[in-house]
Amino acid sequence: MTLAALNSPVDLNQSQLLIVGRQRLEGELQVNGAKNSALALMAASVLSREPIRLQNMPDLTDIGTMAKILVSLGMGFHLEGSSTVLSGGGITRHDPSYDLTRRLRASFFLIGPLLARHGVAKVPLPGGCRIGSRPVHEHNKGLEAMGARISIASGVVSAEVRGNQGRLQGCPIHLDYPSVGATETLMMAATLAEGETVLRNAAQEPEVEDLAGLLKAMGARIRGAGSSTIQISGVKELHGADHAVIPDRIEAGTFLIAAAVTRSRLHVTPVESSHLNAVLAKLEAMGCSISPQGQGLTITTLGQLRGCELRTQPFPGFPTDLQAPFMALLATVQGDSFVTETVFENRLQHVAELKRMGAQIHTNGTNVAILKGVPMLSGVPVAGTDLRAAAAMVIAGLAADGVTHVAGLEHLDRGYTRLEERLQAVGARISRIDATRTALLAA
Ligand code: EPZ
Repeated sequence: MTLAALNSPVDLNQSQLLIVGRQRLEGELQVNGAKNSALALMAASVLSREPIRLQNMPDLTDIGTMAKILVSLGMGFHLEGSSTVLSGGGITRHDPSYDLTRRLRASFFLIGPLLARHGVAKVPLPGGCRIGSRPVHEHNKGLEAMGARISIASGVVSAEVRGNQGRLQGCPIHLDYPSVGATETLMMAATLAEGETVLRNAAQEPEVEDLAGLLKAMGARIRGAGSSTIQISGVKELHGADHAVIPDRIEAGTFLIAAAVTRSRLHVTPVESSHLNAVLAKLEAMGCSISPQGQGLTITTLGQLRGCELRTQPFPGFPTDLQAPFMALLATVQGDSFVTETVFENRLQHVAELKRMGAQIHTNGTNVAILKGVPMLSGVPVAGTDLRAAAAMVIAGLAADGVTHVAGLEHLDRGYTRLEERLQAVGARISRIDATRTALLAA
């Protein structure tokens, strides 16, 4: 048993990634469809009895979990060539199981479509994962304003529309916080409500706009999606539609950061650059050169990169989902950097693991980190505690001297499809080892 393994935070019964750092990358990385859009689009398929055909769907564990939830409600689900087809005609249930929904925050977004379609819904509260408590009062408050009676007992939110023939009533709703999930939930609910709904202080994320694109293709009447005020005129029913998922801006950003941390020239495609302006601005301010090429972006680094100050905010601000991967980059660049996480109250779990690799980081214990860049991180066993923290460990491993073992792949695989295979294809020395080999290596 090596000393490192003795001190490792890693459960040796887990698969891990093994990364030999300091390899230049070269070539092109393909970006998949956006996880956080695909999950909302799947929830929207509940709103129609007719089939919804989705293209560019990512192959992720979260997508599989959402599919299981929908099938358990009676949804038809099959693949047709490159399309994922969801048929809502057979939906008879409105109460997804606790065992499945607790794994997936996005499952709670189903409460809007189920209530709009059936006038009743029973959805377990989503698990508050490590990054914060993640309440859902904005979702519930908006649905109550639309005429739903909501009660919470034993961790299940029960909602029912009393009167108005079980149909929600459109109304003005002002969100206290531009919650992505609440905006999506209420926008979906409003498509079948009676009359007009106006969502103010709505989330402006590209995934909200993508969801509105599918809903409009289904016959919904929506204006202003992507801005802070969204107007929805309710209709009686929605028909089937085809829709392609937008590229995953968080995956694209992760790849750009991987290029920067290895001082590589990489082509990342496809990228909708307007979805990443805040991130591109930071990378360029640090000394990266980024230029549009075809459907994507080409990034190179010009000499020394410099530290920066970043503050996560709702879109179009710097995305909280890239805070951890970006911090891994900041740990390796010259100078001081300041990171403030304003979206989630507990999203600095990756700091301890980066410090294990030799990063010099101080925090205020909650949401502010001060980094002093070091010339070299050291490869050691580390673990990702949530999806984006796991991605941060991979980024750090690509830059570190020596071998980094990354555990927590059950988190990583929720948001990145076969990440190691794609990084290998551009020159990274990275491989996935299964649990038995992990234990042997530690012996
Ligand atoms: C979505 O989560 C994403 N998930 C998250 O991505 C992303 O980090 C987040 O938006 C912010 O961009 C999906 O789309 C499936 P929020 P969501 O409601 O909708 C507080 C990833 O790594 N809040 O905008 O849950 C909440 O506690 C994941 O891909 C309330 O206070 O995010 C948080 O602090 C992680 N009350 C902040 O708002 C509420 O009723 C942002 O939450 C709702 C939210």
